[in-house]
Formats: sequence, structure tokens, C-alpha cells
Amino acid sequence: MVKWVIGNWKMNGLSGSLEEAAKIAEGAGAHSASVVSMVCPPATLLARMAEKCAGSALSVGGQDCHAAEAGAHTGDVSAEMLVDAGAVAVILGHSERRTDHAETSGQVKAKTEAAWRAGLTPIVCVGETEAERDAGKAEAVVEAQLAESLPDILPAQQREDLIVAYEPVWAIGTGRVPTEADIAAMHLKVRQHLEARYGQPGRTVPILYGGSMKPDNAASIMKIANVDGGLVGGASLKADSFLAIASAGATAANG
Ligand code: PGA
Repeated sequence: MVKWVIGNWKMNGLSGSLEEAAKIAEGAGAHSASVVSMVCPPATLLARMAEKCAGSALSVGGQDCHAAEAGAHTGDVSAEMLVDAGAVAVILGHSERRTDHAETSGQVKAKTEAAWRAGLTPIVCVGETEAERDAGKAEAVVEAQLAESLPDILPAQQREDLIVAYEPVWAIGTGRVPTEADIAAMHLKVRQHLEARYGQPGRTVPILYGGSMKPDNAASIMKIANVDGGLVGGASLKADSFLAIASAGATAANG
């Protein structure tokens, strides 16, 4: 099975970073038989990065979109605009958006439908806080986020219908990662949810792990059952660490 390595650059990157993306694009070709490589840069870099990486093994995605196609929404970007800029996917419901912008799962669901409307692959993020995990509520929280963030019906005939990313909030940017057993247990829960919800197509929806994935832990995480790749923040900003993770993905895909 192919693995996914999706870089989430968050609010990082100026024009100079396009050179780093070009290096990633060049190196990604070596793994393209078994790894899908993507970078989601800030919106200001999207079109230029898409142009720079056209024809390479690196695709680009957005980090958020508005649910509407166009209109009076100052500062927002629609899914159609992301497509127009060259994006093939969009991250939705990242915990930083849920926290910084009080985004609800209901809004994430509307954005997921907007992504489908525009022809983008939604990468829907879920994950518990540390307090929720300590209280024994991690699985219930993730289950509720999936139930409310994902639409009931998958669209037919999409290139990639849906990607889900499990990102424990306490593991993001902290250098801390859950145990392999905890990742396995949560990814199995997500898989069971997707199968119960969507039937057969739910079996192949990629489920990515996110939260302090680095070159030194990527191979062991991506070998875990139901882990189809990683959504990578900090380690995706530099070509050498992005490509080391892609290489780990190739090992996991072929091993
Ligand atoms: P991190 O971020 O890899 O820097 O922990 C992951 C994410 O927030 O997607």
C-alpha cells in the first residue's frame, strides 16, 4: 500500500522557501512509486509553489478553506480558489484552527463538502487534548469529532475521496508521541468508524498520523497497522527531513 507524506507548513514560509520546496520536489521523485508527497504551504505561496513543482512528484495543498464558493468573507479563501491556485487537497479542522478560530466540527463538515464541490481531497484532522486523554476520553472525543466532521455520504468518482489525520493535540510541536500501541488502537478505531460509516470505500481511506513525526520515528510509526502515512509539521519545512520521512515511508510501504 502506498504511504502519504503531507507537509503542513502552517504560518511559515516566504518567497525564499520556494527553493526548499523545489528540493523536496526533486527528491520526492525517488520515492514516487510508493509514497505520495505533498506540501501545504501558506496561501501566499500556493500558486507559485504549484507552478514551481508542476510535473514533479510533489503536489500542493491548502491549509483551510471557507465553505462558500465566493462572497463577502474578508480574509477567507474558498476551495475553488485553492484549486485555481493549483492545490489538489486541503487540510481541514486542524486543531490549531479549532483552537485559534473556534472552528466547530459542523463547520469542518461544511468545509469538507466545499472541498468535494471544488474537486479537492479533504484532509480532515481529529485528535484529543492531553486532558481528554488523561481522563480516558481520547477515543470518545475522536469518535465524536469524526461523527460530526465527516459528511454521511462519500462522493463518487473522486480521485481521492477523503483523507483522515489523527493528530493528538499534545503531540503537535512538542516532540512527544503516543506509544505505538496507542497509535495502533486509535487508528483501528478510526478505521472501524470509516467502515461502519462508508462500507467498502471506508477500508481504503488513508488514515495519517500527525504530531512530532520526525525522520527518526517515521519508519516505526508508518509500519503500524492502519497508519497510511504522516501529516508532518516542523519536520516538513526542510528538504532533508521531509525527504528522510518520505524515504521511511517508502521502506514502510515496501516492507
Ligand atoms: P508537528 O505538527 O509535526 O510539528 O508536530 C504536525 C501538525 O500539526 O500537523
